[in-house]
Order: sequence, then structure tokens, then C-alpha cells
Amino acid sequence: MNNIPKIPSSEITSLQHYLGRRRFMKGAAVAASALALAACGAPTLTPSSSDKSSTPPASPAPTAGASSADAVLVDELGQEANTYQEITSYNNFYEFTTNKEAVAPMSKGYPTEPWKIEVGGLVNKPGVYDLDDLNKFQQEERIYRLRCVEAWSMVIPWVGFPLAALLKQVEPTSQAKYVRFETIYDPDRMPGQRSNWYEWPYIEGLRLDEAMHDLTLLATGLYGEAMPIQNGAPVRLVVPWKYGFKSIKSIVRIDLVEEQPTSLWMAAAPNEYGFYANVNPDVSHPRWSQRSERRIGELKRRETPPFNGYGEQVAYLYEGMDLKVNF
Ligand code: MTE
Repeated sequence: MNNIPKIPSSEITSLQHYLGRRRFMKGAAVAASALALAACGAPTLTPSSSDKSSTPPASPAPTAGASSADAVLVDELGQEANTYQEITSYNNFYEFTTNKEAVAPMSKGYPTEPWKIEVGGLVNKPGVYDLDDLNKFQQEERIYRLRCVEAWSMVIPWVGFPLAALLKQVEPTSQAKYVRFETIYDPDRMPGQRSNWYEWPYIEGLRLDEAMHDLTLLATGLYGEAMPIQNGAPVRLVVPWKYGFKSIKSIVRIDLVEEQPTSLWMAAAPNEYGFYANVNPDVSHPRWSQRSERRIGELKRRETPPFNGYGEQVAYLYEGMDLKVNF
């Protein structure tokens, strides 16, 4: 277990933030608003403690749709959150395996404590952040849609904080144009990294203004619990308007750079995966259409909206750009 504390969903202050301005719940409107009020008054983050693993979860076993209050978490469009079970048992984490159902069992017990993220490059104040440092940022709940480039999707109640808060602390210089992220490299314990199909470690990148956007999250948990390893413990990126592969897991380095970083996927298949990777139903993957998606847990396919439904918030970032060229 890492030491980012379990945060009872009812105590997360994000309840009034942006898309999480209030906690969207179906079927429990009264209970939900009472919860939100309580949460405003009591933003608590318990300090980490070494015997965390023996402490029972502060909130009931998280299963969306089945809580005692009959409350189902929904995103700002009213779409229901996937269950904890779905979110934690169907994963992409190629460092372990390409078999989605096998990621959870294969990653079980992977040590994520101690953990450090080095933040550097073109910044005035480079720093090394451990879990206690990350825990000092105000943690929020954000219920986001995750759309994988493979055309499946989920709705996930993340816990985390805006990447912008961390970037402001390190003070990017005027030369910094992009942010480059790197996942841990540990081939002894991550069997997928022994395959030379890919150039390890996993690398991702964002333009600086994308990284500074309020929707861009450094996630430390989900469903009010510390991040499960299969979802990228102890800390991973979440960029909800881009295909899921941009949301890099288990980050150990963040660098501010001048040149556009080359991601693992760009290096592996440049004709299939571009740098921007904005969700775009008008640009097909060379091997399949991106017009619709399969929401995990549903039978009927859904249409995929541009920018995964976040166009109002982010389309301005790409004004004047040809998104078919910059895919
Ligand atoms: N990060 C790393 N380091 N390794 C990966 O294989 N897979 C990506 C992304 N981040 C991946 C990664 C892909 S393709 C997706 S769709 C999402 O993680 C899946 O996140 P989830 O398993 O939490 O749903």
C-alpha cells in the first residue's frame, strides 16, 4: 500500500470544483446535497500513517450503484460511473502484460512506497516530491470519462489535484513549451518491460498550456481510495479529452522541455498514434473507426463526441490547428 491516505468520498473538497462543482448523483439528490454541504465544512486529509493497511476503509466497499443510500455517481453529463470492480479489473498497463484482465493479478503487491517524482528540466525550482509532498496538494474528486483509443470507455471518479498546481510550484521558465512524463522502469518486476516490442520506459507528453489546463489531473486515487496499482499507483496523469494512452501511469519523472516529446506510442507506430491524441470521431484509427465506443458494462455502443465531450472546455486550445494533421 502506498501512504496516500484513503479519503472518504464524503470528505473530498472538490465537490464544488469545476466539473466537480457538486457531486452529481442520481436517485439521491437530497442526500447528495447534504453530503456536499458537510464536505465543504470539513475538508480533511488524514496524515499518512504506517499502519494504514490494517485500517479498515473509511468508506464502505466502493461499488457504484449499490451504496446504502441508493446513490449512483454520475458525471456532469449524467453518465453513471463504472463500478470499482470494473475500473480495477480491466486495465491497460503494458509494463505488466497486454492482457487487460491479467493486469490486476500480475501487479498485485507491486511496491509503491517509498516513491519519488523528480520534477525538473526548464524550471526555476526543480524538486523531488515524495508521497507526503504530493499529499499536501488539495485533493479533489473529479468524475471523468476515460475513452481508450481501442474504442472502449469508462466513467471514473478520480481523486487527485490539478497538474497546474505542481507546475506552478516549480516555475517553468519562458523556454519551456512542453511537459514530458516518464513511468517507472523496473524490468525485474515488470515483465512487460522485458519485451522489446516497445521502447521503455513509457513516455508521454503534453503541450504546456494543455498541462496547465484545469481539467488535467495528477490522480492519486479513485472512489475515495488510494490508487490501485493496476490503475497507476501511486500517481498517474488523467487528461480526459484525450485518448486514454496519454494518461500515463506510475510516474517517476516530469520534465519541462522545449521540444515536443516523443511518446512510447509515437515511437512504436507513428502513423497510428500522434502527439495530440485528442478524442476525435472524425479521424479514424488506421485499423478501426473512432465514431463509437463500448462503455464497459453496457451492450449498446455509444457515439463518441469530439474531445470526449469536453469540447466546451478545451477546444480553444486547438484553434486554427488542423486536427486531422495534428492527430
Ligand atoms: N501508462 C503506462 N505506464 N502504461 C500503459 O500501458 N496504458 C494507457 C494508459 N496509461 C498505459 C498507461 C492506456 S492505453 C489506457 S486506455 C489507460 O492507461 C488505461 O487506464 P486504466 O487501466 O486505469 O483504465
